[in-house]
Amino acid sequence: MRSSKVSAEIIRAMKARGKKIAALTAYDFPTAKLLDEAGIPLLLVGDSLGMVVLGYADTTFVTMAEMEHHVRAAARAKPRALLGADLPFQSYQTASEALQNARRLVAAGAEAVKAEGGRSILPQVRAIVADGIPFLGHLGMLPQSVREEGGYRIKGKSDAEREALLADATALAEAGAFAVVLELVTPPVAKAISQAIAIPTIGIGSGPDCDGQILVTHDLLGMFPWFTPKFVRPKLDVADQIRAVVKEWQHRDRPGRTIRRPAEWSGDGSGHPTPASHRE
Ligand code: KIV
Repeated sequence: MRSSKVSAEIIRAMKARGKKIAALTAYDFPTAKLLDEAGIPLLLVGDSLGMVVLGYADTTFVTMAEMEHHVRAAARAKPRALLGADLPFQSYQTASEALQNARRLVAAGAEAVKAEGGRSILPQVRAIVADGIPFLGHLGMLPQSVREEGGYRIKGKSDAEREALLADATALAEAGAFAVVLELVTPPVAKAISQAIAIPTIGIGSGPDCDGQILVTHDLLGMFPWFTPKFVRPKLDVADQIRAVVKEWQHRDRPGRTIRRPAEWSGDGSGHPTPASHRE
């Protein structure tokens, strides 16, 4: 039997219950469905899709329209998991712009939104939370600032950075965020933040002491072999498996001569399987 829908409140309460939060990115229907079937409670339509799906150099090229398109696809999986989505670069420069774009993501099927920054975006966070939209913070290395900062840098190395991160995390929690992603934060600082705030921290490249961990699914599965972050050890090599299977099909099975058994002809007559939820 399918257990009940995961809400932002349930994710927040996992910290008090001592339950580690596993989160992964999902940008499309099958990935959202598979990760949900595996029991992941928090799925994120991250703007990392700009790199691993759309082929951009970084996340700053991702538009609201692209985010909506992918949110719609992932939402069609109707996951039990909470489905979060990123507000893309420059889509939340004022409180009213943040609210308008958060509502657009919710209309596309998102159940929570994430934006990068702490005290600098508090009016935006408050406007989103006041509208009843669950908000997920993102501190540490902020990918949308990569061009400004000239690269991806570990955060929390100096006392000033440690203090700033703690103040940002505290402010986000007070503004009503239900959890906060800590990206590339030094492990001792990530641990200190996790101990200091009541809402869960969800780490990525920030050591083992966060209340949860999030990864880009493509990194975990080895689906984007041209770049793998140093802190990820892929559990599969899907890219290599795809190359091998395709080569075998091309050279041995001979395209156009594949014979299918009659039982495999189903669905709409195209021979393609129909996603289960579309048949309901
Ligand atoms: O865009 C993204 O996928 C993210 C996560 C990696 C935290 O922000």
